Amino acid sequence: MARHDPVREAAAPYTPAFLTVYDAWVIRLSNRFAWQCDATVMLDLYNRHLGHRHLEVGPGSGWYLANSAAGETAQITLMDLNPTPLSFTARRLRKSVHDVAAVCASVLEPVPAEAGTGYDSVGINFVLHCVPGDFTDKGIAFRHLADVLSDDGVLFGSTILGRGREPRTLFGRALTTVYRRVGAFNNRDDDRGELEDALGAAFAEHTVIEVGAVTLFTARRPRR
Ligand SMILES: C[S@@+](CC[C@H](N)C(=O)[O-])C[C@H]1O[C@@H](n2cnc3c(N)ncnc32)[C@H](O)[C@@H]1O
Repeated sequence: MARHDPVREAAAPYTPAFLTVYDAWVIRLSNRFAWQCDATVMLDLYNRHLGHRHLEVGPGSGWYLANSAAGETAQITLMDLNPTPLSFTARRLRKSVHDVAAVCASVLEPVPAEAGTGYDSVGINFVLHCVPGDFTDKGIAFRHLADVLSDDGVLFGSTILGRGREPRTLFGRALTTVYRRVGAFNNRDDDRGELEDALGAAFAEHTVIEVGAVTLFTARRPRR
């Protein structure tokens, strides 16, 4: 019998069927009406920080990259524990971006050597509230990503914290309950203080802002 693995369970819902409705359900509907943070807020992070060599962790349907200012000459590496978002996003991006690579790996482990190092930017959007543990455990992700970021690169992303920033809408609270029950959300013990501690352990500079139920962050100057 297969062993219960909460890390894999958190990445499992992103099936081909779910990814075909992901943009409508998550990007358009849930972001605005459950989390009170329009997708354009996160898209703005991409447009401000996306570099020439970019690593995207947990791309989902790839909506942000596909709608960002990433030019044809960008070099984009996708990393996900689930191969389905990798192939879905790679197919979508290859229509407009020449160089797209995919690496199947968990962000809780060191980034595999095949992904390379020296990235200008790393994006990790709406991934950490999926990953099990609190930030004293899953915060190791920032350390692994700092290791592959160039000295003047930037990491950016967002997450939904479970403590101190609970959704104000009934829709958001209902989604949180259901997603936790099926193992897709693991954010019960995530709070801003521990998020900032984890960012600070891996980077010499970081920013955190809150919009609705979403906490957005950037980090620079990876600690070596
Ligand atoms: C909620 S979706 C976010 C998709 C997209 N980034 C967005 O903002 O809409 C979470 C993504 O993270 C991936 N994921 C979950 N756990 C992961 C892990 N441990 N390592 C890498 N990717 C993971 C999932 O497979 C999925 O692609």
